Amino acid sequence: MGPVAFFIVALVVVSITHWVYRWRNPRCNGQLPPGSMGLPLLGETLQFFAPNTSSDIPPFIKKRIDRYGPVFRTSLVGRSVIISIDPDFSYFVFQQEGKLFKSSYPDTFTQIFGRQNVGSLHGFMYKYLKNMVLNLFGPESLKKMLPEVEEAACRNLKRWSSQESVELKDSTASMIFALTAKKLISYDQEKSSDNLRESFVAFISGLISFPLDIPGTAYHKCLQGRKKAMGMLKNLLQERRAKSREQQSDFFDYVLEELGREGTILTEAIALDLMFVLLFASFETTSLAITMATKFLLENPLVLKELTEEHEAIVRRRENTNSGLTWKEYKSMTFTFQFINETARMTNIVPAIFRKALKEFKFKGYTIPAGWTVLVSPPAIHMNPANYKDPLHFNPRRWEGMESNGASKHFMAFGGGMRFCVGTDFFKMQMAVFLHCLVTKYRGKAIKGGEIVRTPGLQFPNGFHVQISEKNELK
Ligand code: HEM
Ligand SMILES: *[C@@H]1O[C@H](CO)[C@@H](O)[C@H](O)[C@H]1NC(C)=O
Ligand SMILES: *[C@@H]1O[C@H](CO)[C@@H](O)[C@H](O)[C@H]1NC(C)=O
Repeated sequence: MGPVAFFIVALVVVSITHWVYRWRNPRCNGQLPPGSMGLPLLGETLQFFAPNTSSDIPPFIKKRIDRYGPVFRTSLVGRSVIISIDPDFSYFVFQQEGKLFKSSYPDTFTQIFGRQNVGSLHGFMYKYLKNMVLNLFGPESLKKMLPEVEEAACRNLKRWSSQESVELKDSTASMIFALTAKKLISYDQEKSSDNLRESFVAFISGLISFPLDIPGTAYHKCLQGRKKAMGMLKNLLQERRAKSREQQSDFFDYVLEELGREGTILTEAIALDLMFVLLFASFETTSLAITMATKFLLENPLVLKELTEEHEAIVRRRENTNSGLTWKEYKSMTFTFQFINETARMTNIVPAIFRKALKEFKFKGYTIPAGWTVLVSPPAIHMNPANYKDPLHFNPRRWEGMESNGASKHFMAFGGGMRFCVGTDFFKMQMAVFLHCLVTKYRGKAIKGGEIVRTPGLQFPNGFHVQISEKNELK
């Protein structure tokens, strides 16, 4: 080897060594939390996405907490990340939204949900969209929707009871999707040639997967699904534009009116991204939660008994037992709301909430540099015995009197602070109404499936097949 070649090789070796050293020991004007940055570039991404069947604190986090303590550093999908299971830390992160932190999901998420989705918007535009959505799913709207939600739940349960067995995850998804799509865009599956939901299904299978966009991967399918769904939404919006309607009745009308207003900041692209996010956020989360709720009921006969009693009492108190649910009855479901909280606590549909530090900050003696990602882990908070005694035990009664104990610091199934989930009340209503129809009129029996896997997003690899039968029918 000549001296020049030797020099080049040496330079390359030194640079790589230096780069790997820097990867492992990121620059910081103080002390970083302990932890490992994993392999260069890849970080600990693969370990983070490794499937696991446990509902406990995610093994990825548990292992590192045991090794490093309650705050540690890692690297995921190309980002330097701080993870903490300290409730004060999560609370702090939520409260400082827009000041010290901003919502910031991995680029893969942004690609999937669109650059203009609510989650990645900030400031003025964000407030504007949030108000629009809050309006749509606020108490006044929900009151009006109650009969519609009840009708859908009862009709679907009746249909399912005539079948040998029904796969709950898919069936509830289809029910919720129909409801939300009707509310947002007056979309009617039966009257449409395109199947909008199908493109969403293709999309979901790859959502929380490793972000590798080459044909054959789940992530690739996911992006294709988004493309298809967005195309359909665009066509629907154009169709609506062509035939102007007298009265404003759904979200599309609202959007079109807003787009026509002079000086509006809304664009068609933003409106379509928003539509996509709302459709997705509503039916996937809610159907997973309803499926898990049914699983918990079938596994806990005493809870089922207590829930049934609450709902039968509501029916008994009515003058006419066939009249529909009223808002007042809905608001009176004390145990049901405890049940819903407990389901949300243990289901952990959102396994991770991401924020980016806008400035360097100090926490418990450690320094976290600006630009680092902070990951708040709801399951790590919800399944920690320091916050919930015997956390793997499904026990709705633990919520009794929790309101006054400042429980909110330990409950973040719907996020927190400014970015708190706008669909919480919509979700709770759909769940409560579904449970009402289910426990007053039907009984269920697990037939097959129901096993869960977290990757770390919750999945039912074999579905959950349940037999639904009418109560007054002998079987
Ligand atoms: C079981 C049901 C649900 C769960 C567990 C859930 C969970 C969450 C969580 C944790 C966040 C905060 C994300 C963050 O801080 O980065 C969030 C935000 C959001 N959710 Fe939900 N959600 C549910 C149902 C819904 C429904 C039914 C809708 C639709 C109406 C919805 C629409 C949204 C939207 C638009 C945001 C973004 C809000 C913002 O960035 O300000 N969610 N959700
Ligand atoms: C899940 O995590 C636990 C704890 O780290 C581990 O023992 C188990 O092998 C993992 N795998 C599955 C498939 O549950
Ligand atoms: C459910 O949890 C939320 C957040 O901690 C709390 O405000 C609410 O009171 C809880 N509901 C019940 C019925 O305990």
